[in-house]
Amino acid sequence: MKLFVRILFATIVTIFWSDRLYADDIIAVETENTGLYLINDNGILKQLYYGDKVQDKNEFSLMKNMSLEVYPFYGTGNFNENAAQIIHSDGNITSSVKYVSHYVESFGDYDKTSILLKDQYYSLEVGITFTAYKSSDVITMSVTVVNNESGPVQLGRLMSGSLNLRGDRFYLCRLYGTQGYEANFIEEEILQGTKVIESNRGVRNTHFDNPSFMISMDNKATENSGRVYGGLLCWTGNFRMSYQKDCLGNCFVASGSSDFAGNYIVAQGMSYTTPLFAMTYSGQGKGPASRNIHEWARTCVIREPDRVRPIVLNSWEGVGMNFTERQIEQMIKKSADLGVEVFVLDDGWFGNEYPRNDESQGLGDWQCNKKKLPGGLSNLISVAKENGIGFGIWVEPEMVNVNSMLAQEHPSWIVSTDKRDPLLCLSRMKSQQLLDLTNNEVKDFVFSVVDSILTLNPGISYVKWDANRYAPDHGISSGDTRSQNNFWVDYVNGLYDVLDRLQNKYPSVFFQACASGGGRMDYGLLKYCHEAWISDNTDALSRVYMQWGLSHFFPAYVMAAHVSATPNHTTNREIPLKMRLDVAMSARFGIELDPLHLSESEDDCIKKGISEYKKIREVVQFGDLYRLASPYDGCSQIMYVDKAKERAVVFAYVTEPLPYEKYNVVRFEGLDPESKYSLVEINKDIFCSREISASLGKVYSGDFLMKNGIRLNLNRQYQSAVIELKKIN
Ligand code: DGJ
Repeated sequence: MKLFVRILFATIVTIFWSDRLYADDIIAVETENTGLYLINDNGILKQLYYGDKVQDKNEFSLMKNMSLEVYPFYGTGNFNENAAQIIHSDGNITSSVKYVSHYVESFGDYDKTSILLKDQYYSLEVGITFTAYKSSDVITMSVTVVNNESGPVQLGRLMSGSLNLRGDRFYLCRLYGTQGYEANFIEEEILQGTKVIESNRGVRNTHFDNPSFMISMDNKATENSGRVYGGLLCWTGNFRMSYQKDCLGNCFVASGSSDFAGNYIVAQGMSYTTPLFAMTYSGQGKGPASRNIHEWARTCVIREPDRVRPIVLNSWEGVGMNFTERQIEQMIKKSADLGVEVFVLDDGWFGNEYPRNDESQGLGDWQCNKKKLPGGLSNLISVAKENGIGFGIWVEPEMVNVNSMLAQEHPSWIVSTDKRDPLLCLSRMKSQQLLDLTNNEVKDFVFSVVDSILTLNPGISYVKWDANRYAPDHGISSGDTRSQNNFWVDYVNGLYDVLDRLQNKYPSVFFQACASGGGRMDYGLLKYCHEAWISDNTDALSRVYMQWGLSHFFPAYVMAAHVSATPNHTTNREIPLKMRLDVAMSARFGIELDPLHLSESEDDCIKKGISEYKKIREVVQFGDLYRLASPYDGCSQIMYVDKAKERAVVFAYVTEPLPYEKYNVVRFEGLDPESKYSLVEINKDIFCSREISASLGKVYSGDFLMKNGIRLNLNRQYQSAVIELKKIN
């Protein structure tokens, strides 16, 4: 019976496809300004071109002999990197997958082009879907395999997206780092051979590398010039991004979930679809490429994209797990007094038999700790409510401490590798383990953890969802070969299922993705979460670099940026409060300290910073980003301009000691040249009496500001300024 249903499903998929085909040699996937042109050359699907849209696509028809297959499969002639490799039901490791048909559907701002390919011998269908988002100039790609063979097939590799680039030189921009040192921006030439950037850390993958890139052609791109391709993978699991350059002027780029830890097995009659790969092209440098990605993410991916992000005070750096009920009540009151909108109680609030007083125990036992919080969460929620602010809570429901009731009751729910000692080697990994989100019972449990917290405490408006363990012990002991091979993909899809259920049930509860800082900065999770925690390093100077790097792919309002105490917990560096505020104000502003320990003047500065942020936050959170000057050059300048070009905000931070006499020139961008703008310094340094620019307080045309700009007297390390521009009617 089961087999019959599967075959019926596969037949319906086939009929659906074959019904809608039409013959047209050139397949044009076009956005407002860009075009990706493909052609069916005797069954081989080739990429003719991707770049600025052309006027007459038929002029490409002579180019087909010179073009390369867009999505090559292993086994029939391609000696280079392959986008896919399939092990067929009879063990054959080669594929010969040919074009069959395609059709296009239009949906307002986007067109969907679905291309059907089929193996010449095997009953295996491959669907490639391109979705062209017209106004943001982003095209997404994903691949579906439908297995109509007489047994299971294995996906040795199935990339989400691939691109053939043509040029002399290729420069790759990407992010790298580690925990506490995330999102450093690097640009390097792709040299002959294959460069692979990958992560196989299991359930959180962005501390070290990020599944995103920009490639500039022939020369290093600037913000405003150069041909640039941007790409990113919407996936929280293991990933692989490869860049293969040959000596004929080709660079083949492929991106998808990793093929490292097992061949994904697709049962007979079933299908598998890859995560999405998104790409964009800009002929005017990296700036427009970033703005395209931001626009697309804001309209098509990020949860509740139009919702203004609240100002949060998170308790973690202030009190850790060591707090009393009275203390938290006082912190809530003080937060409200500062102008904070949501107080978030971080780790340490749960566990009774195994109280969560340190990281070695309690995870899994999600009952409020009666000793620490005798009034329960409801008391704290009431205090927050009485003080007019929201209340948020920290959870880490995918994980369990060995020392917990949950681990004792459900040892089989824990991911472990039979015949191997569990790898409890690195800090938190010493004491905590992963729950098996491929198991439906466990998924229900993880859902119910957050569901019951939110149902019992309807006043909770914010959830910080943390994940503090990699998966160094690849694999699971239970289950057949298929479940072991599919584990790392199915785990992530299991996580998405749980988050999806929560999102449907609690559409207005705000979610933050966190994984020991920035371990989950990806568009897989941002579909379910409003924002992500960038790093446990809250040092303002480090954050300038991180926010700069991330801004290439992520809009400001998904980057949670918190002002923390000095010296900084992670770096021990002392940075003036003014710069700490200014840096946090350029993203999703928040606070991460014990507000009860602030001096009177710190109180005043923070209050002022918060009230200034409330005035400019819509420009920061929803405006277009212009990167004016790089922190790697000594003084960072970023600018946000609202869509109507009526308001803008510039943030400038001196990152390195500069010559004493040096002025920083701010050459604005994105303004209306015909309009006049007033320039005002906001969040002024209350300790500094000197004017940072003679131009402030004056009115200039957009034309002048963009051509000549103004000069800022900022040259000492850690000096910073925020300048607001308003159009004068
Ligand atoms: C790691 C996170 O990154 C921190 O912000 C904090 O929530 C801790 N976990 C709590 O254990």
